[in-house]
Formats: sequence, structure tokens, C-alpha cells
Amino acid sequence: MEIQTLFFFFASVFCERVEGEVGTYHFVSQPMNWTDAQTHCRKYYTDLSHVNDQKDTEKILKAAAGQTSLKWNIAWIGLYRDPTNTTRWKWSGGGYVTYTNWAVGQPDNHFSQESKGMIYPNGQWNDGNENILFPFFCIKISVMNYEKKTWEEALEHCREEHSDLISIASETDRLLAQTEMQCYDLTEHVWIGLRFLADQWLWVDGKTMVYKAWPQGGDKDHQCPTWRRCGALTVEGLWGNYNCEEKQNEEV
Ligand SMILES: *[C@@H]1O[C@H](CO)[C@@H](O)[C@H](O)[C@H]1NC(C)=O
Ligand SMILES: *[C@@H]1O[C@H](CO)[C@@H](O)[C@H](O)[C@H]1NC(C)=O
Repeated sequence: MEIQTLFFFFASVFCERVEGEVGTYHFVSQPMNWTDAQTHCRKYYTDLSHVNDQKDTEKILKAAAGQTSLKWNIAWIGLYRDPTNTTRWKWSGGGYVTYTNWAVGQPDNHFSQESKGMIYPNGQWNDGNENILFPFFCIKISVMNYEKKTWEEALEHCREEHSDLISIASETDRLLAQTEMQCYDLTEHVWIGLRFLADQWLWVDGKTMVYKAWPQGGDKDHQCPTWRRCGALTVEGLWGNYNCEEKQNEEV
């Protein structure tokens, strides 16, 4: 009788760079219009950058802070007006803008020509004309391919590299991570920084859990997991909870 593989190998982990020079956020000083900036980011990183919260704002500004020789006053980020509803904003990586940090009186859509978004060195946003050339911020989501690793080993490996297992803190994060998985042709789940501890799911980097992406219907084991207390991103782009020690249980 054929041996049934009940558990998958976890071949990959998502690491998020934490403060190293190869940050998750990258400042590109070469001024470009918004569309060219987007093309550049998609080619060399993952996408034009998005910002989920105040913590991300600090990280994005840090990415440019090392560039002492460069004075920047404004930089593009992945913000753009929803073409079907001009009062609504979306991120280049996918998903609607939930957290906002507009400067006072913005977005004002001056001359009805400001359909893209940029960031100031104080972290606040403004809308701008897409034809203007500005430096910009890209975001890189790193998927690392490894031999089988348990969740703990994956975390340890990321931390050795001065990074952390990634948090999927918004719809945009989720879509970008899924894009990155597809780039690598990954066909199995990927460990993320999701852990069930003290009766709740937490992000290991300390991020507050606001956004959730558990599958609708079906298996509800994640609501009260006995064994499967570590989180991964599934090929379908949703969260899944798995046995943290899965590596040892790949076959029965
Ligand atoms: C456009 O988006 C705004 C903000 O999300 C929303 O309040 C409004 O109802 C939307 N309008 C239409 C026509 O969908
Ligand atoms: C952006 O610049 C490129 C040239 O680098 C140009 O072909 C393109 O039309 C410009 N796009 C916008 C929206 O200004």
C-alpha cells in the first residue's frame, strides 16, 4: 500500500528584514514619475511601498535616513486613487488603504490632477501629479528557500539574518506575499510570524493584530488549536495553522 503523505514539508519561510541596510523598505534616490517608479520597484524589489501603520512609517523613514548625502523633501509611495471612486485610495501592491496619514488639508486633488500619493520626511502624505519626478520607496518581501524547517527553526534562521518572520498586517501585505510566492513558484505553505500563545494568535514581531486572513468556512481549528499553533501562508494566499514541529511528522 502506498504511503500517504499527510503532512507537507515546509520548504520556505518569509523573512522580513528588520533594520539592516537591506531593509524591507528601500529608498531610491533617482527621481522618476509614479508609473516609472512602480515599474522600477516591481523589477528590482516587490512593489512600490505601502504603509500599514505608524510603525511602518518609522521603518520607511529609516530606510532613507542612512542617505545623508541626499536631501529629499517628497518621495512617491504606492498610493493611488481608485479609478472607479476618486475619494478612495488603493495601494500599488493591491488592497484598499485602511490606515491613513494625510497632511492637513490633503488630499486636495489640486486641479483634479493629483491621482498618486507621496510621503514627506515627517511621515505625512500628500496627493500629487503622477508626471512629476520624485525619489521613491520600494518594498521587498523576501521568501527564503530552505530545507525543511520547523516554525522555531525558521524563526531562528530569520533572526540569525537580523530579520524576523514576516507579519501579514493588511490585505496589501497578504497580496504582496502571495505575489512573491508565485514568483518563486512555491507550491507549499510558507511559515509566517504567526503564533498561538496564551490563548490568542500573535505576531512575533509585536505588531498588533488587526487584519486577519483565516479561510472562511471549512476547518475552524485555528479558533481553539490544540496542536496546530503555528501560522503559515497557504498557496491560496490565506492563513493556515499547522503543527509547529511539523518537520518531524511529514509521513505516516
Ligand atoms: C467612494 O468611496 C468612499 C470612501 O470609501 C465611500 O464612502 C463612497 O460611498 C464611495 N462612493 C461610491 C459611489 O461607491
Ligand atoms: C513617465 O515617464 C516615462 C519616461 O520615462 C514616460 O514614457 C511616461 O509617459 C511617463 N508617465 C507618466 C504618467 O507621466
